[in-house]
Amino acid sequence: MSILENPTLETVPVTLGTRSYNILIGRGVLAEAGPRIAALFPKARVAIITDTHVEGLHAAALETTLADAGVASTRIIIPAGEPSKSYAGFVHVCDSLLAARIERGDVVLALGGGVVGDLAGFAAASLRRGVAFVQCPTSLLAQVDSSVGGKTGINSSHGKNLIGAFHQPALVLADTALLDTLPMREFRAGYAEVVKYGLIDNPDFFNWCEANATRIFGPGPERDYAVAVSCRAKAAIVARDEREEGDRALLNLGHTFGHALERIVAYDGARLVHGEAVAIGLALAYRFSHYLGHCPGQDATRVSMHLQTLGLPTRLQDVPGGCGTTAGLVEAMAQDKKVVRGSLTFILAHGIGRSFIAKGVEVAQVEAFLDAEFAAQSA
Ligand code: GLY
Repeated sequence: MSILENPTLETVPVTLGTRSYNILIGRGVLAEAGPRIAALFPKARVAIITDTHVEGLHAAALETTLADAGVASTRIIIPAGEPSKSYAGFVHVCDSLLAARIERGDVVLALGGGVVGDLAGFAAASLRRGVAFVQCPTSLLAQVDSSVGGKTGINSSHGKNLIGAFHQPALVLADTALLDTLPMREFRAGYAEVVKYGLIDNPDFFNWCEANATRIFGPGPERDYAVAVSCRAKAAIVARDEREEGDRALLNLGHTFGHALERIVAYDGARLVHGEAVAIGLALAYRFSHYLGHCPGQDATRVSMHLQTLGLPTRLQDVPGGCGTTAGLVEAMAQDKKVVRGSLTFILAHGIGRSFIAKGVEVAQVEAFLDAEFAAQSA
């Protein structure tokens, strides 16, 4: 049997016409990168974009499988951390790709978490007006969210992800064994994006998460299953709304509050990383849904309880150093360009797994809800 038919891997197709691709999920799949890339792109050279943290952990293994398959590669390193997702980081990667003579028929490969994937993807979208892109995500958050769906980009002083392009990968290799070395805080934060898929439209998956979450944190089959369910859910949404003109906005469940909190802490990962902000955002979105009369209180409580059981934050007071005031949070949402003429678009829920896009939520309702949240925490 050829390695390309490995039955231990889960294959999730992303169906986008001529831009369709597969996400391959399982322990050890990174070691198959060489033959898989050689089969998709005969004679291509591969530019591996990785960061100073991931390089030491996984770059050598990747280069070995590429070399064994006769694929030439070059390595481009960026500093680990969000500041690399910048104009300067973009210039560094593009100039390095040009210096390495990466051509139209070659491949840019992201080996890392969300920062590496977003930056490398944007460079791949831009270099010579677009070269092929492969994602090898090394964090849980990247495996279940950012490596899938083709959103690429960098940050500006005006906000996160404001400069970018849709550029779908040609292949995603999600090696779940790489998560064995992920720090617990980062794993937990990525888990917020996993449970989000249950909350969007899959109550059975949420039930399963409640029963199995601790096993997802271990190296067993539950982890692979959770990554596969998450990728399948995201692939289905992206297939029907690639450019976020409709349903794809559901993936932002928990993100309107979450992005505001990240902005309040000035994206200081020592205080709050993205997944932690999403965890608070998910709990707030459910409590806000209950506050507005859309969702039973017991469902909102269930969401918070589950996240808390896993050590994730769920309340405004859980933000180390505090998160300011109602006015500050609403201002942060406005800067996130989510306020249009005094109202906002939120992702709310009628219950577990029953989310919906709510347009025209009044700022005054958000303010009253946040006032109540701040009051509850000081009571
Ligand atoms: N992370 C949200 C999206 O890909 O649309």
